[in-house]
Amino acid sequence: MHEPTLSEAPGSSGGLPTLTQDWKAYSAEQHEVWSILFDRRMVDLRTTASQVFLRGMDVIGLEREGVPNLSEVNRRLGRVTGWSAVAVAGFVPAPQFFASLAERRFPTTIIVRGRDQLDYLPEPDIFHDVFGHVPLHADQVFGSFLQRFGAMASAAKSPDQVTAMARLFWFTVEFGLILEGGEPRIYGSGLISSRGDGEHALGPAVRRHPFEIEAVLAQPFVIDKLQDDLFLIEGFDQLFEALPIAARLLDIPV
Ligand SMILES: [Fe+2]
Repeated sequence: MHEPTLSEAPGSSGGLPTLTQDWKAYSAEQHEVWSILFDRRMVDLRTTASQVFLRGMDVIGLEREGVPNLSEVNRRLGRVTGWSAVAVAGFVPAPQFFASLAERRFPTTIIVRGRDQLDYLPEPDIFHDVFGHVPLHADQVFGSFLQRFGAMASAAKSPDQVTAMARLFWFTVEFGLILEGGEPRIYGSGLISSRGDGEHALGPAVRRHPFEIEAVLAQPFVIDKLQDDLFLIEGFDQLFEALPIAARLLDIPV
């Protein structure tokens, strides 16, 4: 089994405790599970995922052959946007998570799910966190959006501000859709990393609304359930440009 070792976090992320990914400790079984997950998702993603995501995969060097080595991912990512993926043990409290985003550091789990959990896993693993999230961090506009989102979310204090910022994260970073060539494509990590959620998002049962920041901030969501309402952006510029509007609407200092 993979036994990551605890080490001091380099730099400052509000005291976020980070791990060192001991890549050589992954077993043949864990590499194989990665390959299975990778192949199963890529069958669909070549035609359903945003081109920005697919390009990002190439930029950071994700491949089917085995669990990604974060040092290699970060070497490639650092060159293009300055983002990095930092290994953590599991759930990161919201204040530390958002503070990390503001520093272009994305907390990522490094465990590999078991072969009996290919379709669903309640907690994040490296497939959700790295395969699902990190390719978009190679895009300049999305990378800038996510950094500024982190700074704004860190400044959210009242329960209403925190709830609204969580909704914005949910309907973009986790469950976002983008219009490309006149068709909806998926870019949110919850849709990228899960076949069931991805298929549902593009199917007939979902209401796909044009992305309007007021509507997103007012839209409740339920975790661990297929989503009935999702939002379609026309490009990542739209997300970046929505942030100052959200700050004004929510009275969050930026
Ligand atoms: Fe996620």
